[in-house]
Amino acid sequence: MCALFSILIPGVKSTYLRKRFGSARAAHVTCAHRPSPHAQKSGPLSRQSSSRAAPERLLVMEGTALFSHPLWFICSLTLLALLWVRRRKSWRPEACPVDLSGKTAIVTGASSGIGKAIALDLARKNAHTILACRCREKGQAAVEEIRRATGNPQVQLRLLDISSMASVRDFARRFLEEGSQLHILVNNAGVTGLPFAITTEGLELTFATNVSGAFLLTNLLLGTMMASAPARIVNVSSFRHFYVRKVNLKWLTGEERLKNASQAYDCTKLMNVIFTMELARRLQGTGVSANVLSPGIVRTEILRHYGRVSRLLYWLCSPFMRSPQKGAISTLYCAVAPEMEGISGKYFDSNCTLVPPQALAQEPGLGQRLWDALEKATGFKTDGSQQVVSGPLQRER
Ligand SMILES: NC(=O)c1ccc[n+]([C@@H]2O[C@H](COP(=O)([O-])OP(=O)(O)OC[C@H]3O[C@@H](n4cnc5c(N)ncnc54)[C@H](OP(=O)(O)O)[C@@H]3O)[C@@H](O)[C@H]2O)c1
Repeated sequence: MCALFSILIPGVKSTYLRKRFGSARAAHVTCAHRPSPHAQKSGPLSRQSSSRAAPERLLVMEGTALFSHPLWFICSLTLLALLWVRRRKSWRPEACPVDLSGKTAIVTGASSGIGKAIALDLARKNAHTILACRCREKGQAAVEEIRRATGNPQVQLRLLDISSMASVRDFARRFLEEGSQLHILVNNAGVTGLPFAITTEGLELTFATNVSGAFLLTNLLLGTMMASAPARIVNVSSFRHFYVRKVNLKWLTGEERLKNASQAYDCTKLMNVIFTMELARRLQGTGVSANVLSPGIVRTEILRHYGRVSRLLYWLCSPFMRSPQKGAISTLYCAVAPEMEGISGKYFDSNCTLVPPQALAQEPGLGQRLWDALEKATGFKTDGSQQVVSGPLQRER
């Protein structure tokens, strides 16, 4: 709490501390984690702070002193009350009364983890739910499990390898031929830990799976979604996109490569955010929204391609992670919550809170450049306005 106040109102805090303890201690307390060179030269206080127990004692004193002041006491109580109210109001899919009867939803990567939990809840809300998975056995097992759990017979498997643009086109063609409407598209399929590799279509594998495939699938289905409006596109990113400091569009085709798989993953997750912002900009006025979110840190098979040590550490930490059901909440919020109607181009954290994404995601022109690079990489062409038209079936190289 003290740390929070020191961040929010450092000036007020240091003024108060200075009045209360004198300037040397105020300086030390305000920078409690930084040993001050001045403090070391300033008499008894500096001797005290140099002993091992002193910083802890000082922090306790600081804490009690702060709470003894009526202003801090009232502020703390207000803040605690706000946190409590916010916690009480956190969104729960099971309490959301939305009925999706007559609506169709596609969830990519729904054979396990977060994707399966998302599909389960959409099916529970009576949506015609299509699980887009690359493995027939795993996908069919998930379909059976969801049908059993929800009693919804309209749960279906469609094969899709999102890293293959040919497979994406095939999936979209079959879906469009059925003439079905599409109200919810969840781009969830994702992978991390794969070694650098170039697909037969000339795309880097991790980027093809996490970025290019979702771009192509979304664009191929966009006409149907516009005709089915209101409709929602939800892209599953990650809090890890905050760790990225630059974007290089040559990563998409592997012309330039990152140091390791983990970095590649983080960059794909930033591209998910940038793509969503650009998509939302292009979709203004169409009745189709596009939002992006982080599911949090979730206990799934996401590290399956990592080495034993990483997986062991992950397993040891897994009791402290969210379950896939909890990890699905922010996606479901964007996909079905009535209060999300009309909201587009936003990033949500794992608590369904609207937060600003990493600054790069809002860099002017970057979304357009990423879009152009993805068009080139996937062979899909838009006509330059909001109207999306089909592109060539094979990438020209
Ligand atoms: N777990 C976390 O802590 C965490 C944190 C932040 C973001 N996320 C994101 O959440 C999403 C879901 O991940 P998860 O944690 O649920 O991991 P997961 O259990 O590994 O699920 C990933 C899903 O994507 C599918 N997939 C992978 N490559 C595919 C491909 N080429 N074509 C079609 N499907 C493919 C997998 O299918 P197979 O079973 O056939 O491989 C699986 O169903 C990902 O986008 C991930 O980046 C997860």
